Amino acid sequence: MPNPTELLNRRYGVDAVNADVSWNDSLNTLLSHRSIRAYLADPLPSGTLEILVAAAQSASTSSNLQTWSVVAVEDTNRKEKLSQLAKNQAHIRQCPLFLVWLADLARLTHIAESRGLPHEALDYLEMFLMATIDAALAAQNATVAAESLGLGTVYIGAMRNHPEEVASLLNLPPHVFAVFGLCVGYPDPSVAAAIKPRLPQSSVLHRETYRLAEQDEAIAHYNDVMKAFYSAQQMNIPGDWTEHSVKRVASAESLSGRDRLGEALKNLGFPLR
Ligand SMILES: Cc1cc2nc3c(=O)[nH]c(=O)nc-3n(C[C@H](O)[C@H](O)[C@H](O)COP(=O)(O)O)c2cc1C
Repeated sequence: MPNPTELLNRRYGVDAVNADVSWNDSLNTLLSHRSIRAYLADPLPSGTLEILVAAAQSASTSSNLQTWSVVAVEDTNRKEKLSQLAKNQAHIRQCPLFLVWLADLARLTHIAESRGLPHEALDYLEMFLMATIDAALAAQNATVAAESLGLGTVYIGAMRNHPEEVASLLNLPPHVFAVFGLCVGYPDPSVAAAIKPRLPQSSVLHRETYRLAEQDEAIAHYNDVMKAFYSAQQMNIPGDWTEHSVKRVASAESLSGRDRLGEALKNLGFPLR
């Protein structure tokens, strides 16, 4: 098992945290996370998908409503089409298993209708948010389970670039929305994937009340850490984290088509009242 101090230091890019807790396999898996964007063609052992879904279903779910589902895509043709809808990301084609995590209000609609009962609350933004949170918690449990089995993963938010086309490709009924995808497979060991540093805890951890202005120092420090990370990884990212991040939110165009998400959700049966 890697040294916990080393894992923590890699996560923050510096000597970071002293804690009087005993290290364990779960912490090791969580702290070792890195997204994987190059996969071997090797198939997954049988039963892997079912274990990942059991882990996903073990996550907490709001009011036990279980307002999520997942579509497991292994078909080469379908992965190719999904990749095209997600900016041609090669890892979607390459991974043996592509999971599409769904905010799913169709099941509740269906059971209400099957008993002739009203389901007006499903039209509200709150229920869409609940289903999206449920899907994210489930997916993250599956991600951690996959990583604990030596598999690699990467989330694919670009599933939201063309929501109606994704829905049609996966035969989603109304009231179901693909929140994101997740590539799963064995990492290609010839392609290095480093642990990416995160912001210092002093910018994300607030004690008792929130403080914004006090984060400047931590952010400046993180800019230095990330500049060093980009150059160590030979990543061609101009500027620092602040510059890179601000560019991502500069205009509606930087949303890669997701600026029309509200309209797409209405088309998919989410009135978002
Ligand atoms: C909801 C979500 C959507 C993401 N979408 C993409 C994506 O479309 N393509 C991609 O290569 N990475 C995607 N990522 C991965 C992030 O870029 C990655 O998690 C982040 O840079 C931190 O790196 P790490 O996961 O290696 O620590 C996504 C991550 C999340 C949580």
